[in-house]
Amino acid sequence: MTSPVDEIKERLDIVEFIGSYIPLHKAGRTYKALCPFHAEKTPSFVVYPDQGRWHCYGACNTGGDIITFVQKKENLDFRSALELLARRAGVDLERYGQPEKAERLNRLREALGLAAEFYHHQLRHTPAGAAARDYLRGRGLGDETLIAFQLGYAPDSWDAVLGYLRSRGFGPEDLETVGLVVRRDDGGLHDRFRRRIMIPIRDLQGRVIGFGGRILGEGEPKYLNSPQTPLFDKSSVLFGLDRARSAIQAANQVVLVEGYMDVISAHQAGFANVVATMGTAITAEHLKRLSRYTRTFVFALDADVAGIGATVRSLQMARSALAVREPVLTADGQVRFEARLPVVLKIAALPPGQDPDDILRRDPAVWAQIIAAAEPLLDFYFATALRRADRSTAHGKAQLVAELLPAVSELDDPIERRHYIGRLATLVGVTEREIDRELELLTRRRKDVRLPEAPTPFPEPEAEANANQVRTGPVASSETTDRTALHLLAHLLSRPDLLPWLDRELAALQFDPVSSEDFTDAAHRALFDAWQEFLYSGDASLPESFGSDLDPTLHPLLNTVQKLGSGLTSLREEQRRKDLVDTLLRLRRRRLKAYCRDLELLIRSAERAEDERLLLGSRLVAATQQQKAIERALQARSHTGRWLQAKQRHPW
Ligand code: UTP
Ligand code: MN
Repeated sequence: MTSPVDEIKERLDIVEFIGSYIPLHKAGRTYKALCPFHAEKTPSFVVYPDQGRWHCYGACNTGGDIITFVQKKENLDFRSALELLARRAGVDLERYGQPEKAERLNRLREALGLAAEFYHHQLRHTPAGAAARDYLRGRGLGDETLIAFQLGYAPDSWDAVLGYLRSRGFGPEDLETVGLVVRRDDGGLHDRFRRRIMIPIRDLQGRVIGFGGRILGEGEPKYLNSPQTPLFDKSSVLFGLDRARSAIQAANQVVLVEGYMDVISAHQAGFANVVATMGTAITAEHLKRLSRYTRTFVFALDADVAGIGATVRSLQMARSALAVREPVLTADGQVRFEARLPVVLKIAALPPGQDPDDILRRDPAVWAQIIAAAEPLLDFYFATALRRADRSTAHGKAQLVAELLPAVSELDDPIERRHYIGRLATLVGVTEREIDRELELLTRRRKDVRLPEAPTPFPEPEAEANANQVRTGPVASSETTDRTALHLLAHLLSRPDLLPWLDRELAALQFDPVSSEDFTDAAHRALFDAWQEFLYSGDASLPESFGSDLDPTLHPLLNTVQKLGSGLTSLREEQRRKDLVDTLLRLRRRRLKAYCRDLELLIRSAERAEDERLLLGSRLVAATQQQKAIERALQARSHTGRWLQAKQRHPW
């Protein structure tokens, strides 16, 4: 389970985010600004994009990550800051529940996995499955395909899967929750799927999360699907993605079709970069998922579908939700964000009345041609609109503009935009300036509609549109990479007596007590603060209650820390305490080293006022001394360490 903190940091760009509060100036690999937290004349506030952190070397002399920034800027506690960022990043915090929840989900997955095996066995090896076997063979599916997709058959029975899974120890609630059985009004239970071909639907890891059940032959409904369950969310699942991922990446293109059978046929014919939505329209969530593998999306659509305009609009909205913005430097040294890495949407027009399965079965080469001939979304849209339009009348021209303009206005890329504005102008015989004016009116009208919305704490006007942005650059997630900090937390949280002991030990060495400032990551800080509070609240005799009172978004981190902590119990008491002190000192040494280096760079980089120069200078002197003291302490301790080890080997 990834943590919400990691997910938020993956999705939000710290430079863009902090840049929305204050103007940042690029300086090498860092960005500088006048500190937003105190008054100063020369910048001493630095953002380190590759490490996902910031630091003010001036009067504040503090730093942290993106969450800490929000906490400080908006004066919020960890949880509220996380909620604010989660909204901005489009992360659902509710998904991260109690640890017990994860166990429960595993159990539900296990039930579905067993059901898939059960249905598959029915299809392949029982007399009851004969009709289904014949049906699938009649549709051209070979044994390898039946096995690869683990297709199955739900026999004509009210309690086949119910009986099977109960015998394997699953209770009725579990089976109802995953949608395998249905509760009748009289309270009794029966199988949801009967006499149907069963198509397992899987998550990215290939675990079964639901089923599509196709009727044998004709009838209604053609497909019966699993209901919405804790594991199965129709609006974001893509059928076949578990098997298509690597092919999508290799082809740098994904082909989206409508039906289960289309995906299965395509994979059998060797086109493995094909996935389907679950009978729903494509959403931004879908595109976001896929954009991890490619940014070129080909939609195989029936060319005559009604409502193509609506399709185009919804595709474009989904696309603009994906638009990645990257910092670029303006002439005056400011950072601005521009859309980069465009998402390419294409339409592959299928011959009327045929679905991909038909085409693939007749001639895979024709399918390959159709996909290769896919047109950019807007070209396709222009072509269909033109076919319907009557350009001989003024009214017809106005209608054409009214239809196409909204789609053009959704384009982020200025060059693309200009291209289609030019085309539209030529088509209706006006100048580009006139189309520009219409566009402006359209955008203004849209802004007016947006105005009454709740004020957002972010000054950036496109906060909404960027809510689902995907970040592509390398992500520094200190939560997973800062091993020293994790190790320290593992020590401290493994026993209530260790933090007070460590503080006394540090005092004896004339060092500051442990504080949340020892951690860079806001989640580490929050966990440390919670632990400290817990220890001093007097409840510490019951360590179990720590987890249950803890903010659930910190549970993944707590799990990691506890797992690490249980590994420490094999150490002897002496070793453990020594390792604890050493870990803290190493953490501080590393931080101070980076601090001194960065501070020195900062001091050299600009002329600054006398008072500010003095402040930074004395900071550097103090930090260097501190660093030396820690270095000495660590060395002294390593001698003691060697001596200790020797003593253990020869206990005289
Ligand atoms: P189709 O009717 O095109 O089905 O519906 P198909 O996949 O091509 O199946 P065959 O070839 O007739 O056997 C497209 C998709 O819409 C959803 C399913 O996801 C299906 O694959 N659908 C369709 C349903 O969920 N329920 C239905 O009753 C029909
Ligand atoms: Mn079909």
